[in-house]
Amino acid sequence: ARPFIVAIDGPAGAGKSSVSKLLARRLGFSLVDTGAIYRCVALMAQREGIAFDDDAGLGELLGRVHIHFQVVGEENHVFLGGQDVSGEIRTPDISMAASQVSGRPVVRAGLLQLQRRLALESEKGAILEGRDIGTVVFPDADAKFFLAASPEVRARRRYEELFQKGVESSLDAVLADQTKRDRDDSARAVAPLKAAEDAVHVDSSTIPLSDVVHGMESEILRRMAQRA
Ligand code: C5P
Repeated sequence: ARPFIVAIDGPAGAGKSSVSKLLARRLGFSLVDTGAIYRCVALMAQREGIAFDDDAGLGELLGRVHIHFQVVGEENHVFLGGQDVSGEIRTPDISMAASQVSGRPVVRAGLLQLQRRLALESEKGAILEGRDIGTVVFPDADAKFFLAASPEVRARRRYEELFQKGVESSLDAVLADQTKRDRDDSARAVAPLKAAEDAVHVDSSTIPLSDVVHGMESEILRRMAQRA
């Protein structure tokens, strides 16, 4: 049987990364951070001086994208061409660039098989977090969640995350970037950010993330028992 597939979608800063990491560890599932994949493409384009709307350049670049994930200590690290770029892809610059390249249909199509392959390679199950997992990448996922939170709560989480990593920013700047990314991600023609019809909606604005994780874990275990 194929591995158990969990789709977790939602806007930037909704807590997807924290929740996915904890769930993957508790369930013994692999974790595919699809935002990190778009960020790697943006990083490659930036390094090589390819414009973020140059479809021919991006198309050629996609043939050379080699990405794998590996748990290092407690963290899920991402490797691009064998180089650990986990820190480098988290800057505000690359966030904006990732949002831009992800709007290009050539990029979305080019990354589809990679995302599916990374998930299907896992033994027991895989958690995929992103924007279009439940709608496009795995419309037939075994469990789908749409994670939301108020814009203020999300911006504060992102800001604190950046602060801890030593990246200088202000709450206002984070909120402004986030508003723009949410708008672009939701408005794009191809695979916009939206909840799948059969997704379980979770709002983490006022619930501690640990409770969110417990609720989602019970739902996943219930569905695994059903499938078995
Ligand atoms: O989740 P993260 O903030 O790392 O994603 C970076 C950007 O990549 C998002 O703003 C979005 O534009 C894009 N993305 C996407 N589809 C996904 C995951 C991320 O378009 N499945």
